[in-house]
Amino acid sequence: MGSALPPVPVTNDELVAALDTSDEWIRSRTGIRQRYFAPDSMATSDLAAGAGAKALKSEGGRPVDTVVVATTTPDRTCPATAPTVAGKLGLGHVAAYDVAAVCSGFVYALATAAGLIACGASDGVLVIGAETFSRILNPADRSTAVIFGDGAGALVLRPGTEGEAGALGPFDLGSDGEGLELITVPAGGSERRPHAPREEDHYFTMQGKQVFRLAVQRMSGSARAVLDRAGWRVSDVDHLVSHQANHRITARLADELGIPQERCAGNIAEVGNTAAASIPLALDHAHAEGTLRPGARLLLTAFGGGLTWGATVLTWPALDRD
Ligand code: UT7
Repeated sequence: MGSALPPVPVTNDELVAALDTSDEWIRSRTGIRQRYFAPDSMATSDLAAGAGAKALKSEGGRPVDTVVVATTTPDRTCPATAPTVAGKLGLGHVAAYDVAAVCSGFVYALATAAGLIACGASDGVLVIGAETFSRILNPADRSTAVIFGDGAGALVLRPGTEGEAGALGPFDLGSDGEGLELITVPAGGSERRPHAPREEDHYFTMQGKQVFRLAVQRMSGSARAVLDRAGWRVSDVDHLVSHQANHRITARLADELGIPQERCAGNIAEVGNTAAASIPLALDHAHAEGTLRPGARLLLTAFGGGLTWGATVLTWPALDRD
């Protein structure tokens, strides 16, 4: 595993100066103390390559033949960011593609990577979740500008045997296109082309209250489905690693599932909501802190724009720590 963050954190107090908000509101309503915003010179591919390089190094530099990048904020609308990342990492002519499922992107990317390995199409996939979400935030919208942040997390998947530590799955994935308007950047794609979009249409918007309720509902449903398929009881779960959307969402989700709060791994206080990068960043930070002991049973679940959601389980493998 590996992760990367922009060099300098942005504290709540730094945002208070420009927005009608307060450190107290942000901490108590979201659990966030700080987040990272990438400087203009740093694109999503830079963060992705930073995390990817660390993940490859942690695995001894063995070659991979595929790079999958989950992102909401690609370097460009066209082409995908993954080939750029592969190029920056010097990986040669590997397969490379993006997965767009907003905050659920990493779980979707894991599922596609696991599928490539299972069908024999790949011997090693570098799976990355990476975002420069600050690029699409409306600096005047206090309901989103204080929540999201930039970063990347990555891991390497290899063929193995069913049931061995690190083996992924089963998966549960879902979507509901009826929720399109709840989390969206309205302009910049094919839909608004004939019209002159307003500047604010290029910014990310979210109907926070509705999304909050649906996030808990969908992640708990997906988590239950995957536990059922895996034959795990809730009491088997050592760590719930959910999309770091809001600490109140994680707490509500854990309550819904009957998982004690102390079994929730998370780093939202330090990095904010990093969308597709959220789960791999949370995993890498928990791994670096030594929270995830080999053999621990993990439940991963995410929810995001689309709407999309997903969940999977794994037993934590023995990995070197820096
Ligand atoms: O990552 C994809 C999935 N995303 C999520 O799951 C996020 C889901 N939603 C949330 O995390 C929460 O809904 C928010 C953090 C976005 C908002 O928290 P909330 O407790 O749901 O607040 P609210 O939207 O109900 O707003 C309560 C009040 C409002 O003021 P009034 O109308 O009661 O006077 C807002 O205008 O808080 C106000 N408010 C703020 N006040 C200070 C909203 N944002 C801020 C702010 N600072 N930054």
